[in-house]
Amino acid sequence: MNGPTPVTDRPIEILLIDDDEDDYYLTKQVLSDISHASFNLQWIWKFEEGFEAIRRGEHDIYLLDYRLGEKSGLELLKEARALGCKSPIILLTGQSSTEIDLAAMDAGATDFLEKSRLEAAVLDRTIRYALQQRQYETQLEKKVAERTEELARANEALRLADKRKDEFLATLAHELRNPLAPIRNALEIMRIAADNPATIEKARLIMERQTHTLIRLIDDLLDISRITRSKLTLDLDLLLVREIIDLSLETSQPLLDKAGITLDLEMPERELKVRGDRLRLAQVFSNLLNNAAKYTKRGGRVCLKVTQSDSFAAICVQDTGVGIPPEMVSQIFELFTQVDRSLNRSQGGLGIGLSLVKKLVEMHGGSVQARSEGIEKGTEILVKLPLIEC
Ligand SMILES: Nc1ncnc2c1ncn2[C@@H]1O[C@H](COP(=O)(O)OP(=O)(O)OP(=O)(O)O)[C@@H](O)[C@H]1O
Ligand SMILES: [Mg+2]
Repeated sequence: MNGPTPVTDRPIEILLIDDDEDDYYLTKQVLSDISHASFNLQWIWKFEEGFEAIRRGEHDIYLLDYRLGEKSGLELLKEARALGCKSPIILLTGQSSTEIDLAAMDAGATDFLEKSRLEAAVLDRTIRYALQQRQYETQLEKKVAERTEELARANEALRLADKRKDEFLATLAHELRNPLAPIRNALEIMRIAADNPATIEKARLIMERQTHTLIRLIDDLLDISRITRSKLTLDLDLLLVREIIDLSLETSQPLLDKAGITLDLEMPERELKVRGDRLRLAQVFSNLLNNAAKYTKRGGRVCLKVTQSDSFAAICVQDTGVGIPPEMVSQIFELFTQVDRSLNRSQGGLGIGLSLVKKLVEMHGGSVQARSEGIEKGTEILVKLPLIEC
């Protein structure tokens, strides 16, 4: 017959707290009859010393006599539990009494044993069960602690995301409100200057420009909401990188010109072909060029360089602008992240552009990376798109 599985490999440390020396010898004898496990039995007969020993928690298990001189084992048990002691404590009772047994369980005894029936098989089973129970509790406590830690971390991430969303809402309200003031003013001007065509044309241009800003803002929002719900589909075509760049420049060149920034374009001799959505890829590069224009001072330069890197088309947009602090470089692709909102206020924007870039590039099987030597040291964004060889 297989013996019971031992709970530990080393001897089991047992402390008997009992005011009767005979009980000590009896317990020692009974333990020595348990052949498949080894025990170290220690004996203490005073309540206070017993309490101290339990407090130190150096034993695996405690056997506690119900009678301890003036006091009772039950009191000691209660005090030990009140102190937070979680070790198995078995109460040894004089004779079987339901009342005492119940009181023992209530006070937190792991088990109780009738002294007169103390024999090897019973003690063995009780010790084993109590130790296994404790082992199980410890594992459970560990799991609960790990889970609590995980939840705390998830909670913190949620809190940060929530904070970012709150900040985003404030920015959004601001960004949506911004174009409305000039539109309202332009309407007023049109009313007053009804018979002055030149003024009316100026007002109309203001309204056109501001409406365009609003539409772009809302389109970005719709795009990001489609992407996060996996509702955005790509209209795939075989494309030349050159035509994508040309298309993006149709949108961005006026902005670069207006910001007084020179663009250097470096294209490879050989045409590079990729499979992708023409408008979406043009959106990627115009977002990057718009950022370069937005975050570079007048007189600065932007270089758009296309090269082949193994089986990828590498498109690098480099500027001589304000740069990005090192700790933010990895975060700028996250939705609603802006390096310095107070600074960006004057620049406008919602912190969506780069997040869209990353998602769109990844949907094309590509990757995007940012690099900056730091503040005022310029920024470089590298997009890689898988090449089609044909
Ligand atoms: N070329 C760049 N140089 C310096 N900082 C940049 C550059 N591109 C992006 N950033 C920083 O990264 C942040 C996130 O860029 P992203 O394009 O996502 O948002 P945005 O430009 O602020 O607003 P949006 O693009 O939604 O109009 C910017 O707010 C800016 O702080
Ligand atoms: Mg942007």
